[in-house]
Amino acid sequence: MRQIIIALSLASASMLSVAGGMPFGGEDSVEDAKDLWKVLVTEGLVGENAVHSKPYKGMPPHGMVLDTIQKTVSVNGHTGRVIIKRNYGGEGVDVAKVAKDPKPWLKAVTVMFKREYGYDPENQNWFWAKFKPNGSLHSNPKKMLLAGRVAKGMPKGCIACHKAAPGGDYLFNE
Ligand code: HEC
Repeated sequence: MRQIIIALSLASASMLSVAGGMPFGGEDSVEDAKDLWKVLVTEGLVGENAVHSKPYKGMPPHGMVLDTIQKTVSVNGHTGRVIIKRNYGGEGVDVAKVAKDPKPWLKAVTVMFKREYGYDPENQNWFWAKFKPNGSLHSNPKKMLLAGRVAKGMPKGCIACHKAAPGGDYLFNE
């Protein structure tokens, strides 16, 4: 009996997590991404006056040069850890050039934000977003905006790849 109850509550938790509509790219996710971006600007983590950490040599899909920063932030009353990875690229990019002047090389800002329990319990409750340097969102080839539970249930994308990270929390750099 107990097993049945657990199974039922797990099933309803996973239904809840998509009850708001699409797992990613929908209106709710885009609003969440906007709110998150605003907080990151205020915290000086993205945008014109953002702090930078030391760039290092990266690899696809993120970029040939990367830098990663993290902090704990509050968005709409929820406090969680945020990890921001800046993805640099372009003809002739290298670590020294990015260290000297990062802006012209910045292609994307990929973010993971730890949401409240229940947001996506099967995937460690991460919110994922791929921003352009100006804070608008990148989209996938199907024109779906990359914000939310990206790309839950699909064979490729943030969740599918990060699932393989060691340690079980979907983080490669720990
Ligand atoms: C094909 C695999 C793959 C996909 C797809 C992918 N990532 Fe990553 N991601 C990585 C790897 C590998 C690292 C570690 C790279 C490094 O810093 O050297 C990483 C690092 C990160 C980090 C820094 C935290 C960490 O895990 O170390 C963030 C944040 C991140 N990715 C966000 C995203 C987002 C958002 C998406 C989807 C838009 C995404 N990633 C898609 C492989 C992937």
